[in-house]
Amino acid sequence: MKAAGKGVGVAFAIMMTIAVRGGVDLDRLVADMTIREKVGQLNYLALFPWNVSGMDGMVDSVKKGEVSGFIWGVPPNPVLRNEIQRAAVENSRLGIPLFFGRDNIHGAHLTFPIAPALAGAFEPELFKRVQEVSAMESRAEGVDWVFAPMCDTARDPRWGRVQETCGEDPYLNSLCSAAQVRGFQGDDPSLPNRVISCPKHFAGYSSVTGGRDYQDSEVSEWQLRNLHLPPFRAAIEEAGALTVMSAFNTYDGIPAVANRFLLTDVLRGEWGFKGFVASDWGSIHELLGWGIAADVREAAEMSLLAGNDLDLAGGVFISNLVAMVESGKVSPSALDCAVMRILRVKAAAGLFNRPYVDEMSMERVWRESRTANAALARECVRKSAVLLKNEGGVLPLDGKRLRRVALIGPFADDRVEMIGAWSGRGEPSTVVTLAAGLRTALPGVEMDVVKGCNASSKASTKTLEDGTVVAEDSGADADLFDVDRALAAAKEADVVVFTIGETKGVTGENQSRATLGATGLQQALFDAVASLDKPIVSLIFAGRPLALNEVYDRSAAVLYCWQPGSEAGNGLADLILGKESPSARLVISVPWSVGELPCFYNRPATGRARNLDGYYQDMPKRTSRFPFGYGLTYTAFEYSDVSVDGDSASATVKNVGRCEAIETVQLYIHQTACREGWRPIRELRGFRRLRLKPGESVRVSFSLTDDVLGYTRRDGKRICDRGEYRIWIARDSSVDGKDGVVYVR
Ligand code: GLC
Repeated sequence: MKAAGKGVGVAFAIMMTIAVRGGVDLDRLVADMTIREKVGQLNYLALFPWNVSGMDGMVDSVKKGEVSGFIWGVPPNPVLRNEIQRAAVENSRLGIPLFFGRDNIHGAHLTFPIAPALAGAFEPELFKRVQEVSAMESRAEGVDWVFAPMCDTARDPRWGRVQETCGEDPYLNSLCSAAQVRGFQGDDPSLPNRVISCPKHFAGYSSVTGGRDYQDSEVSEWQLRNLHLPPFRAAIEEAGALTVMSAFNTYDGIPAVANRFLLTDVLRGEWGFKGFVASDWGSIHELLGWGIAADVREAAEMSLLAGNDLDLAGGVFISNLVAMVESGKVSPSALDCAVMRILRVKAAAGLFNRPYVDEMSMERVWRESRTANAALARECVRKSAVLLKNEGGVLPLDGKRLRRVALIGPFADDRVEMIGAWSGRGEPSTVVTLAAGLRTALPGVEMDVVKGCNASSKASTKTLEDGTVVAEDSGADADLFDVDRALAAAKEADVVVFTIGETKGVTGENQSRATLGATGLQQALFDAVASLDKPIVSLIFAGRPLALNEVYDRSAAVLYCWQPGSEAGNGLADLILGKESPSARLVISVPWSVGELPCFYNRPATGRARNLDGYYQDMPKRTSRFPFGYGLTYTAFEYSDVSVDGDSASATVKNVGRCEAIETVQLYIHQTACREGWRPIRELRGFRRLRLKPGESVRVSFSLTDDVLGYTRRDGKRICDRGEYRIWIARDSSVDGKDGVVYVR
């Protein structure tokens, strides 16, 4: 077995120290448990408003020791949480505490920008700070375990869950995943402001066929090991994540929840993972739907023996494993192994010596957090909105010269859309909308806010015989199409700030799209306003890259805001008015059209490089509309003298523009010949954020180490071959037309 990485060793030591410190003799505890009580530790329920009527029955099961914990889906309620915990700790035979889990992905109560936005800051430390706040707020309501970070490497923006990813590059994704685990768990996850993390979804989920959620994901082992596994390996080996969630999809024909290669050979055999694996929601039972298991007993046996320890909201283990162990179908040692993994993590969470949460502090903690961490949330917005276009320097707006601004579109003054999908305990009532942020920043300027239409995807338009575009009668709210008011406001304004994108309702889980346009009637509204020839600053709100070519072409400036969270309005106003220059970069390529998907920068050179980017006879030969790593600032940077000396690559970067800004300098590599398998034409393997004043220049260097140049072999070993590499130090992944600097290892 490969020696476990530093993080795994640290995690294991933490689990054992806390267990001992907590006075818990886990071996003795397991020895005392009945088979049913052991299986009960593998049984995780879900409590939501739709099944709270069955809570009494669940509490009875808790008292019998048949429940390990709850996905805590009811509204925040520390009193209820403690009441259920008391049923376990004080009213069951062995008093084993429950643990409570939630999907606090980009914030618990205070909501931060979504992962593809935050990763675009190219500042993993920022992610760590965000998840420290989330951990503290989660624990305040009695949540001990968060189902995050989401470590999937984005492949296809039709898949709604790119909204949760840190993008299409495994290197940046790895840094962000490990940083999030450190933020959640810290050095001691038993502390009252830390939680247990859960890297998900292990593994290969983002390559689902056609971007259709829950489908098969038939990647090669080469792609699995070099694209999908690195972020999980970093989260576990380097940061010491204590749990992992297996994915819905298949790998090599077998669903992850019963995939021994993934859950045992790689996770435990190669990485030395000591925590436990949880299934995704009901996915053990789904082995029947996949046609892998003939019945639920077989599903239970396959999943447990593959290395999946906890049955999340499935009820399969509790219904079948007792009889199977009693009959000898499943060995008691397999059961004991899973139980011990789960109990160790409960001990690491401090639950044996602090099972209850303070019932009086949640509201105060959340209120204080909103004040204490608003600046961080605002900083995150500033650092995560990507400037895609700024023709004629229309941005930043000059508050002193502006008289009137038309702020148009469904995201202009909307709270709900700002907190995005998977918004944890985010409260729209606490959100600073774009309109509010701009009003605060532009006190003397007339602000005409016109919603104009809804973002709902249910609406559609029709064109009358005289050519006017009106809303289809699709019922109630979706019919709003106030184009006249929008035009009137635009005509009077010095500048139009137009908000457009996709409603959060079509992003996240089970929200795959076959198109990448604006939802509802937004495009029609934009087209009408754009016909006025007024300068338009377009702000895009989305959970995925959208192919809004008309908007990108006809706007003077474009700012990609993603789903920015509680401090949306203040952070965006800071950028729009130049308090800070945009610095974020795209972590997912923006395609020209859905027909060209999947398109990502780290693709193979192929044997016919001349066709590298133009496979479609009915489309122009081109790469993505905006590539991975792309993003503008309010100044301009010049790169020169890129060179390699010895084992170090360097370049001079100069601010040749008119204001101070942060430039994210990127190091890309390409191994020109690798007999183990193709290496992408470019791979991000380093970056520097340089804050430079006008005229200031810096010589930036990167060491070309084995880690920077290497890859993972099919035996799981990281390898760096001797041979020829190409090296780029650039502003984004396009660097087209340049072969890079030759470096021979
Ligand atoms: C969902 C998601 C997963 C989430 C889990 C618990 O189906 O796939 O990301 O953590 O269930 O809510």
